[in-house]
This record gives sequence, C-alpha cells and structure tokens, in this order.
Amino acid sequence: MTRHAFPEGFVWGAATAAYQIEGATDVDGRGQSIWDRFAHTPGRVSNGETGDVACDHYHRYREDVALMADLGLDAYRFSISWPRILPDGTGRVNEAGLDFYDRLVDELLRYGITPHATLYHWDLPQALETAGGWPVRSTAEAFAEYAAIVAGRLGDRVRHVATLNEPYVVSDHGYRIGSHAPGRSDPDAALAAAHNLLVAHGLGVQAIRAAAPQTATGIVLNFHPAHPASGHPLDQEAAMLAHDQVNRWFLDPVTGHGYPDAALRAWGWRRDEVLDGDLELIAAPLDFLGINYYCRHVVRSPYLPPLPPGPPDELTEMGWEVYPAGLTEVLEFVASRTGDVPLYVTENGAAYPVDGDPTRDPERVSFLHRHFEAARTALEHGVPLRGYFVWSLLDNFEWAHGYGHRFGIVHVDFETLERQIRDSGRFVASVARDGLPELDPRFPPAPRG
Ligand code: FCB
Repeated sequence: MTRHAFPEGFVWGAATAAYQIEGATDVDGRGQSIWDRFAHTPGRVSNGETGDVACDHYHRYREDVALMADLGLDAYRFSISWPRILPDGTGRVNEAGLDFYDRLVDELLRYGITPHATLYHWDLPQALETAGGWPVRSTAEAFAEYAAIVAGRLGDRVRHVATLNEPYVVSDHGYRIGSHAPGRSDPDAALAAAHNLLVAHGLGVQAIRAAAPQTATGIVLNFHPAHPASGHPLDQEAAMLAHDQVNRWFLDPVTGHGYPDAALRAWGWRRDEVLDGDLELIAAPLDFLGINYYCRHVVRSPYLPPLPPGPPDELTEMGWEVYPAGLTEVLEFVASRTGDVPLYVTENGAAYPVDGDPTRDPERVSFLHRHFEAARTALEHGVPLRGYFVWSLLDNFEWAHGYGHRFGIVHVDFETLERQIRDSGRFVASVARDGLPELDPRFPPAPRG
C-alpha cells in the first residue's frame, strides 16, 4: 500500500485536559474550580455528572503514559489544574499539586514523550470567580502569577507551554451563553472576559519567558470556517461577520492586527476594559500557535427565511458536521496571519457512540484519516504545520455533556476505569510510525442504524 510520509520530525500526539480526566478533585490540597461548582449545580451537566472521578488519571497517570508509549506517540498535550497549584487562585502555593505534574512530566520523558502543557483549560479557581472572574482584570494578573510558578517549576523539562485553551469558548460559553462554567449569561461580561483573557495571555507569555527562557510559548485557539448558507449577499455578509466574531476576534489581536472592526461594531463593545499598551502586550511574538478544529458553521442571515432542509450531512454524535476540508482552510487562514510561526493542530477528533465492542470505531478511524489528509494538503500548500494532537487520548468528561460523548482513541469503562486501546488508537500509531495510507474509497462508511 502506498503511504504518504509527513515531514521529518512531525509530531504526533494526543490531547487531554485536567478537569476532563484527572478526578481526585479533593485530594492533596487541590482547591475548588468553577467546574467543580458548576458540575455540582443541579441541571448544569447531563445526568448530574461531575469530574470528581473522571478517568482518575491523577492516580493512573503511569498507566496512561504507558498507553501512549505503546502507541508510539511523540508528544502529549495536557493541561495543568490551576487550583491544584494555587488553591485560592493567588498567594499560597500547593507543593503537592506541583509535585503531581513533576511526576507526570518525568514519566513522559522517561518514555521519550514530549510534554506540551496548557496552563488554562477552563478550570478557574472558584475563589477568583467569586472575586469577579475573567470579567475583572485582576484575574489576568493572577494568571501571570500562576504562569510564573509553573514555568519556574517545570520549565527545565517542559519546552512547550500554551497559555490558554480556546478563550472564545471561555468567554462565549462561560459568560455570554452560560452553558459552561461559571454559567453566566451577560454579554458585557463576556466581552470584558474575552479582553482580560487576552491580557492574561500577554502577561503569561512575559512570565513564562522570564521564568523559563528556553521554553516555547503560544496560545491555543479554536476555529470554525463560517460558510454562507446560500449565494445571497445577506448570507455572505452574515458568514463574514461570523468569521470576524469567531475566527478573527482572538487571532487578529494576538498577531498584531487588533480587533476586527465589523465584529467590534456588531458586538457593540465600548472597550472600557482596554488600557494603554494592552494591544502591544497581547501581540507579543509567539513561538507557536495551536489550532483546535472540529467542524464548520454554515451561516444563514437573520434577515432571510430559513432554508428548506438539504440532503443530510454526515454528523458526529455531537451533531457536528464532518468537514475535513475545513481543516485545510483553517490552517491556511491562520498561516495568513502567522507567517512562519510553527503551527500545531492541538485538537481534532470526534465522538461516536459505542456499538458492541468498544474498541471497534471505524467512523473515528475514517474521520481521523480524512482530517490527516486535509492537514497534509495544507503542508503541501506551504503551511508550517509541525504536529497534530488527536482529541482525545481517553474518553472523558465532555463538559456539559458529561460522560455520554466519547472522543477517546482509548476507551474508558467508567465503572471499572479500565482502559482499552481502540482501532483509532492503533491507526494513529500506524500513521505516526509509517505515514498515512491511501484513503479507502469505501469511506465515509454508511451510517449505522
Ligand atoms: C474543545 C475543548 C476540549 C473538548 C473538545 C471536544 O472545545 O477544548 O476540551 O471538549 O472541544
């Protein structure tokens, strides 16, 4: 079979996030996070599920690192739990929390797996939310304190640190819609949060560089191509606005282009939170940028009547359209802003229901295969893509959906916590080892049911 090699040194990995896998929320001095509070509030998460146990990765990290070694992964993207390090958000440091990440990093390095850490994957210390949360600037300053502590402790061994994961989702779902922690629905607070997240990123970059000058630092942003639902000019206008509000809102300021004008007008933001020098701070040059890609958005103008339904899309269990070409598009779009800054796909993957044998996941294999092809196309077009992290290593706590939606290339039995590598895990392993096989023309597979 012909195989297509990725460039020498291309990094293959898997990604997770602290609250989604660690469990042990009440162990070794960890403080409370907004996700503990949110998940324990009735009605917020499907079936009242919480991250209290999750995959119990806190106690089983050795087994999980061994699984990655078995798969031959080059790298592991994980996040650090801020309330494990600073239970009150600022001030008192919990050494036991730092010790955990020390052990994890050493275990990874023992197998030659490169750690890629993210400092903030949504688990704000509850004490900081109580003091105002992301809509207040002091949270950004607290983040810089936390970043300095982590970089000072792990920076000798962790050479890739991202400040934030998906600030769009933090501000939008957390503060505008309220479907994620802390569950607020306040558009002004969301705009303030979005800006303070970027300030936190800028201060964090400074803190990481001061504490660990040899560590590469960047940010992870999520992207959805916004495509017009029809050729009507109003649909085109609506799609362009969605593109500005979602894809450009964080990328443009981070790359020195400022906030996009049309989106500024549409959000009606007064910019009271923006201080002199903020945009320079936010635009500090990056060592890398991480891209999370799942699907596109097809946008219909609010001024036009709904379109009659077209032929059914291929969807994942999340209801997200499978649209591999969007990954090429997003990579090319980001590179238009970042030039030769190294890019990583920091998340891409899919949820599918288990049907019988939980290790058989032909849809996920097909999904990943087609997205790896799309990444290869972007490379052929000159995008400086350096690596690809599949979401996720493990089935885990999928935020407001709880445990019902499984993204793992490793199946987790949430009763016994037993792990089993799926076919998709073996597929990723084979691509990492031997390159990409030809696409099977029989895919996409016919929907089951
Ligand atoms: C992303 C999140 C990640 C996971 C995937 C499915 O937005 O960063 O934690 O939940 O979606």
